[in-house]
Amino acid sequence: MTSRKGIILAGGSGTRLYPLTLAISKQLMPVYDKPMIYYPLSVLMLSGIREIAIITTPEDQEQFVRLLGDGSQWGMAFTYIVQPSPDGLAQAYILAEDFLDGAPSAMILGDNIYFGHGLPEILAKADGRKEGGTVFGYYVADPERYGVVAFDGEGQVSEIIEKPEVPPSNYAVTGLYFLDGDAPRRAREVKPSPRGELEIVTLLESYLRDGALSVERMGRGYAWLDTGTHSSLLDAGNFVRTLAVRQGMQSGCPEEIAYRQGWIDGDQLRSHAEKFKKTAYGRFLFGLLEASPQHPVG
Ligand code: DAU
Repeated sequence: MTSRKGIILAGGSGTRLYPLTLAISKQLMPVYDKPMIYYPLSVLMLSGIREIAIITTPEDQEQFVRLLGDGSQWGMAFTYIVQPSPDGLAQAYILAEDFLDGAPSAMILGDNIYFGHGLPEILAKADGRKEGGTVFGYYVADPERYGVVAFDGEGQVSEIIEKPEVPPSNYAVTGLYFLDGDAPRRAREVKPSPRGELEIVTLLESYLRDGALSVERMGRGYAWLDTGTHSSLLDAGNFVRTLAVRQGMQSGCPEEIAYRQGWIDGDQLRSHAEKFKKTAYGRFLFGLLEASPQHPVG
């Protein structure tokens, strides 16, 4: 069985964050002490995924390469793919078809941030389903801003609707999609929507019609943060800061996950820590090297 590969979709024009994003990609914006893309990257790493394609606009690719390199510093392998124009989320599977080479995938949007005790477990469950797809439903107060799940009388998912005026439920579909190796073929059958995009919900509908889509609900213990407006971006940064200051621990830290996964050794971790030694981030990495039984792992 081919192991699952990752995709981070980090293109788009970021117009809702102008003027912040006039010259810099949204997914490189700071969320407290780290670039935004570290957080979705960490989710894929927690899923055990080491081979990842990073999809960006043509103009921004260079900066992503400067930040993330080839992935080998974290025991990973990154491939960069350009999306010439933002023609929709489902297009990512067409652009990444050669990279995926028939493998199942987990795609995450480069602006989606998740926290929660037990995240590795629900990711492992999704990874365990080799056929079909899994998406995550998250209860929100403003579902009309997202893809929304409709349930039938038996509580089964009947439909997923993009930004409905009258939402059929409060469950938004988050930007994390575990799909099988058939996704690129199915994506090629998606027709552009009235707004001219290859919609992710149309691709998900194709799985749903075949009875091949699972929707996992992410419960109250999880935070799925929005970074779509100036205020929510600041809120996300404050959330991360609160955790960091209170616990003295990092969230969304690729070096930590790579070390715990055994993808880098102590010497490699030490050299990362040295690079960041003037920051709390660096001190946290040094702390991992001295991890005591009292130091929580999760
Ligand atoms: O965040 C979850 C939501 O993401 C889902 O609930 C929706 O079903 C899904 O359509 C998407 O909605 P958004 O309104 O957030 O989509 P947006 O166009 O803002 O794109 C999401 C991210 O993907 C954004 O950071 C830019 C990037 N993107 C978007 C498009 C359309 C690309 O890289 N390429 C694209 O072609």
